[in-house]
Amino acid sequence: MDRAGKPLTSVGFDKFGFDSTVPVDALRALYLSPRYTNGEADGSNAKQTLVLGPQSTYDPASKSIAYTTLTSFPPVKLLPPTQKKRILITGGAGFVGSHLVDRLMLLGHDVTVLDNFFTGSKTTVSHWVGHPNFELVRHDVVESFMIECDQIYHLACPASPPHYQFNAVKTLKTSFMGTLNMLGLAKRTKARFLITSTSEVYGDPEVHPQNEEYWGNVNPIGIRACYDEGKRVAETLTYSYQRQDNVEVRVARIFNTFGPRMNPYDGRVVSNFVIQALKGEDMTVYGDGKQTRSFQYIHDLVDGLIALMNSEESRPVNLGNADEFTVGDFAEMVREIVQKVQKEDGEIPKQSKIVYKPMPSDDPQRRRPDNSRALQVLGWHPRCTVAMGVEEMVRYYKAQLADGTIA
Ligand SMILES: NC(=O)c1ccc[n+]([C@@H]2O[C@H](COP(=O)([O-])OP(=O)(O)OC[C@H]3O[C@@H](n4cnc5c(N)ncnc54)[C@H](O)[C@@H]3O)[C@@H](O)[C@H]2O)c1
Repeated sequence: MDRAGKPLTSVGFDKFGFDSTVPVDALRALYLSPRYTNGEADGSNAKQTLVLGPQSTYDPASKSIAYTTLTSFPPVKLLPPTQKKRILITGGAGFVGSHLVDRLMLLGHDVTVLDNFFTGSKTTVSHWVGHPNFELVRHDVVESFMIECDQIYHLACPASPPHYQFNAVKTLKTSFMGTLNMLGLAKRTKARFLITSTSEVYGDPEVHPQNEEYWGNVNPIGIRACYDEGKRVAETLTYSYQRQDNVEVRVARIFNTFGPRMNPYDGRVVSNFVIQALKGEDMTVYGDGKQTRSFQYIHDLVDGLIALMNSEESRPVNLGNADEFTVGDFAEMVREIVQKVQKEDGEIPKQSKIVYKPMPSDDPQRRRPDNSRALQVLGWHPRCTVAMGVEEMVRYYKAQLADGTIA
């Protein structure tokens, strides 16, 4: 169901000369267990449809995993050469990137992924490896790269605090040199360039909600600065290339996003809560739980990124869901949804306790997007409810826990 209570059968829209519509079920089949997409939760009544993606079988005795490679690919649109774009996605093996890859592949475009697999994994896009429209290149964006392309989605950058703090200098190099290299490529090839910036450029904001005119309140020397300031300078570089070299640029300021394929152990609040609740462990809330967060579901973000890329808007655009939850309330909601899915699957619901721990430094108290620019210039607004997205994630992680691919 979407936010208006109507069944959500497709995502995307036909705008700015670019049709990004695909059936939701075609996407779900790429990340959810077939028992949730083909029939009843217990596997009965399964429709005889194609099982997509390489299948993995985990053997707990030998702690080994066997992959069966794919013999057929999900069907993709056949586009006339005039409409088929050559699209480069840096960081395409990560959480957001892999969903963007799925969408653009199903739409029939030529997609090349550049990734050094620091936080991403080949398994997120392995269902496309070998497809004539798809290429996967192991490459670090800190080094230059040359390819002919029409559009560049520049996502490469670790996005969760433990990952970007793991090697702060490398995060800064990726943000600065990686963006410099990709802008250089856009300049040479005349490709349109979109960077995934972040709501973190607003720091610990003094205005609520944050619109794109707000310059932010960032601590330049704190432990989050390698990411926040990295993205800020990446935006500066982007607009310098626009002014100086007429590169066509797009800047998406993304707010908290969640969905299947998020790394379950990178400390982001949604995945933490879902995994803890699925295992019946204590659910950890940092601080007093009164701090608020807003969460957008991945399909909405992909809609927004594609619309922005193909629109004429070159100013920064916020993409986020403005429904605010206190972290404490959100933990309770996740616990209820996990228990609901466990009951539906015929299991005894696990009972988790919500526990409170000290807040890490520089963690913003409040963050909520003002999406009016996205609505006005892209006609974009989030369609998915947070509850629907959480339920999808619960099913995704549940299958992974069951088959042993996460522990
Ligand atoms: N997920 C969110 O809530 C969110 C919010 C705001 C902004 N963003 C931005 O969206 C983008 C994608 O985020 P995500 O959540 O998918 O993160 P992610 O960590 O899952 O994906 C990042 C990808 O970039 C790759 N990468 C990192 N450094 C690289 C390098 N030097 N060279 C090549 N590849 C490299 C990683 O291996 C990974 O595949 C990032 O730019 C992030 O800053 C995400």
